[in-house]
Amino acid sequence: MRTIAQISDLHFGRHSDFLAEDLLTSVNERAPALVVISGDLTQRARHGEFAQARKFLDRVVPPKLVVPGNHDVPLFNLFNRFWRPLARYDRHIQPVGAVGDLYRDDEIAVLGLNTARSFTRKHGRLSVEQIARIGQVFAQVAPHVFKTLVTHHPLGMPEGEAERRLAGRSALALGAIAAADIHLLLSGHYHRAMAGDLPTEIGGRGAVLILHAGTAISTRTRELEGNSYNLIEIDGDVVTVRVMCWGAGRGFHEVRAAAYRFVDGRWRTAVAA
Ligand SMILES: [Fe+2]
Ligand SMILES: [Fe+2]
Repeated sequence: MRTIAQISDLHFGRHSDFLAEDLLTSVNERAPALVVISGDLTQRARHGEFAQARKFLDRVVPPKLVVPGNHDVPLFNLFNRFWRPLARYDRHIQPVGAVGDLYRDDEIAVLGLNTARSFTRKHGRLSVEQIARIGQVFAQVAPHVFKTLVTHHPLGMPEGEAERRLAGRSALALGAIAAADIHLLLSGHYHRAMAGDLPTEIGGRGAVLILHAGTAISTRTRELEGNSYNLIEIDGDVVTVRVMCWGAGRGFHEVRAAAYRFVDGRWRTAVAA
């Protein structure tokens, strides 16, 4: 069994220090195999915001896998935005991901891809080269290993959720995801925790479990959602997703759990332990 903590949309610069401390306590106490940080580490991609994010990440004890989000590309500094969109991210954050963009052990393999772009800044996209890389990377991973892909911008919506704009080239990416037998997609961006099977089969190869994370510590919460992060337990063909929400006096605590079992090529809802 492996546990992944997914924290997302931290938005340092428009965050709560108090929640950041509670998040550190909660994540480090749970001691997951990996902490995935799925983008939007800052609010405006300022050096000071990246420095705060870096300080925070340095205190996250487990191995970390980080991808940037659209807010990590400068908006107003046009030279940086178009010529060096991730220069600040690379300088402050890249050294933290000591494992690079791929984490693997004998049970899980997790690849992170950058969808943040200068031109399609808000909605992001994958390049043709990145999509090719999905197949190349996971071809090296044994069939029994649980395979996960991380992007900031979602590549799909879980069944039952309203359609929202996806990262550019999502359809092409989903073909590569099906061919690579990827089990789970992790993303952020919409500041809302959502989970479920992709409603349509992809590439005739069955489905993929889709998990969006809420915003962990930003004050920019959406709709009725508060602040949350996801704890994902992977145990053979059963995946349990626990949404950990913040409450005053309680810190981050479990508010709902859903289990999914892979049966006949689909992720079916099972009873969570
Ligand atoms: Fe965000
Ligand atoms: Fe975003």
